Amino acid sequence: DQSLRTLAQRHGLAIGTAVDMAALDDPADPRYRQLAASEFSTVTAENVMKWESLEPTRGTYNWGPADRLLAFAEQNNQRVRGHVLVWHNQLPGWLTSGVADGSISDTELRDILRRHITAVVTHFKGRIWQWDVVNEAVSDPWDTPSTLHYKGFWAEHLGPGYIADAFRWARAADPHALLFYNDYNIEAFGSRDPANDKTQFVYDMAKSLLAQRVPIDGIGSQGHLGTQYGNFDTFQVAEALRRFAGLGLATAFTEVDVRSQLTEGVQAGDSNEINPRLQASAANFSALLRACLAEKHCLSFTVWGFTDKHSWVPGWFSDPPEGLATIYDENYQPKRAYQEMKADL
Ligand code: XIL
Repeated sequence: DQSLRTLAQRHGLAIGTAVDMAALDDPADPRYRQLAASEFSTVTAENVMKWESLEPTRGTYNWGPADRLLAFAEQNNQRVRGHVLVWHNQLPGWLTSGVADGSISDTELRDILRRHITAVVTHFKGRIWQWDVVNEAVSDPWDTPSTLHYKGFWAEHLGPGYIADAFRWARAADPHALLFYNDYNIEAFGSRDPANDKTQFVYDMAKSLLAQRVPIDGIGSQGHLGTQYGNFDTFQVAEALRRFAGLGLATAFTEVDVRSQLTEGVQAGDSNEINPRLQASAANFSALLRACLAEKHCLSFTVWGFTDKHSWVPGWFSDPPEGLATIYDENYQPKRAYQEMKADL
């Protein structure tokens, strides 16, 4: 058995994927389910544990799809990363409109958040390995103002103290789950803008949370990369993991994909144009995986979808069009990135 999960097991590393429940449930697409089971030892819900999916109508939780993912994981001896408890995106309409029209006050909002975290963590109690408790709370250097700050819906309404609260509420509901802060653009220190270093900001945040005895166990580095931004090397990435480990925190790569721009004239069959992109994509998957292998507190390496047939990239990055971000092509043929990961393992 030469699957990624078997090879990674020798290193004590879990290899994961985000799972698209529509694809998993599609009887016309059996390969998706087969590969999700055979290649990976951990799974993440791509969407079905987000607030808008779990509680589309106020007071009525829809656990079905997430419960089915957990059953799949248990059948296949996989661990589960819970994603996500607190995030500014994919919130239910009743919540955002209630806040916008003033029918939900900020005091009530904090209470709603506490009850949501408690309900969700309690529902899945004992079955989640790592929870993404807070996701993407920090701005990027390209935002305005470029000075890094706590951004988005929750910080605007509750102030940055919601982060400590969220971890405490999650710990109270399931004391055995590992609690993660998860974000993108934190793969290396100073990688995009040394003056506004998001990795350093998250490091300082984690340090201060720990100093306040907030129950945070790990930092999730999403790893959404693009070949147009150049290549990471293993050393700079390992250095970032090592510094987080120095705080006493675990780390994980939680959403790795490496997309490319599909410039005019580039088509799937056009190997002269495609090959350099596939090589660059593979090199970045490899840099992150090797860094994780080199750092024993790096617990898992999760890709955000494993096939270009079911990847969020073309739908999300469409101007200019981007794609080719995963380790299998649209026909489930392994790409350079898959081979490179195998070679690293
Ligand atoms: C994405 C999903 O892949 C899409 O299907 C959805 O439409 C939008 O969200 N960071 C995260 C993930 O933490 O939850 C996002 O997932 C991708 C970026």
